[in-house]
Amino acid sequence: MIIYGNVFYKGRIVECGIEVENGVVVDIGKDKRGKSVDGIIMPAGIDVHVHFRDFKESYKETIESGSLSALYGGVCLVVDQPNTNPPIVDEEIYFKRMEIAERSTYVDYSLNLGLVKDNVDEIDEILKKIEEKYYVPAIGEVFLKGKMSVSYETLEKAKKTVNKLITVHAEDPNEEDDVMAEVKAVERCLKMNRFHFCHISTAKALDMIYNSESTSEVTPHHLLYSKEVVKFKVNPSLKSNEERVALVRNFYKADILSSDHAPHTLEEKWEGAPGFPGVETLYPMFFYMAKKGYIKINDLVEKFVVNPAKIFGFDRYGEIEVGNYANFVVFDPHRERPIKAKDLHSKVGWTIYEGLMAVFPKDVYIRGEKVLEDGEILIDRGFGKVLQA
Ligand code: NCD
Ligand code: ZN
Repeated sequence: MIIYGNVFYKGRIVECGIEVENGVVVDIGKDKRGKSVDGIIMPAGIDVHVHFRDFKESYKETIESGSLSALYGGVCLVVDQPNTNPPIVDEEIYFKRMEIAERSTYVDYSLNLGLVKDNVDEIDEILKKIEEKYYVPAIGEVFLKGKMSVSYETLEKAKKTVNKLITVHAEDPNEEDDVMAEVKAVERCLKMNRFHFCHISTAKALDMIYNSESTSEVTPHHLLYSKEVVKFKVNPSLKSNEERVALVRNFYKADILSSDHAPHTLEEKWEGAPGFPGVETLYPMFFYMAKKGYIKINDLVEKFVVNPAKIFGFDRYGEIEVGNYANFVVFDPHRERPIKAKDLHSKVGWTIYEGLMAVFPKDVYIRGEKVLEDGEILIDRGFGKVLQA
């Protein structure tokens, strides 16, 4: 099969054909003529921070509903987080969750292993058992504060026993000021070792990570909203507008853009539950911003496609290139429209991005197969692959 059109290839949009065999790109060239596609053929997104819930929280999201939302948002692979109820802290529950994923995910799926104070002594053993079967992207997100939190000492112990990327939700448990809480936690972790820092919300912490061996992640909500504008809770908290603008100015220092898709029902939100859904709106909003010239399209691809694959070790995922999976999203730049919660596919039915402009994918290809065409899903649940060892 050859797909022909305007392709984001090697940092530029060029007219060429992509030859696909067995789900993998085998050749790219100007003289490869094939089925012509209208719009811009972009590499599909990789969202390394989603909370797809299930189990006792199936009423607010499941792998099935979350991955469908991901697919409509042009995401071909997700990293799910282990703070489920019950949490993913041993091999038994990990395998159970992967079995659910195998029969219900629409997009490719991977799952982090949770670290808590009760499993730190066995964490390497648990990881090795899981890795006989599945590819584990990271240990994390590790919390330093709240219900599933561990101490800095436990984190350091884990870092010393396990040869695996650890992702940290960096907020110091003893610091009242929310800007300082992030800065302090990042500072302390950077002294220990190399980590990947989830959802960084301050320019200061982002800069410290930029000047280290560690890597960082930022989210659309921290870039777009300040605490003056959105009152719903999220962790880390939304900051002042001044702090938000500083984060935007330092966006280039972030390695990864992720949604931290964290669905809660509206009822729970009014009661103060922290987190926003966002896996479906990230790529469409940022593609729109790239179209308008607010951000560079190359930065978007770097932070939502290339670096996620590189940092989390996803072989054959990433940019459109010979040897990689044929995971594409076709955007028609003329089809911009406001985001409406009623059009989205998360179970929760609300979004903080209501009314913001976006360009939603026209078509999506996963491993060469067209899975979404003009807003119609062409596959069944379970089409997505769980990443094997
Ligand atoms: C997340 C959730 O609800 O699982 N909430 C949030 O505010 N971000 C947990 C997290 O990533 O901290
Ligand atoms: Zn978090």
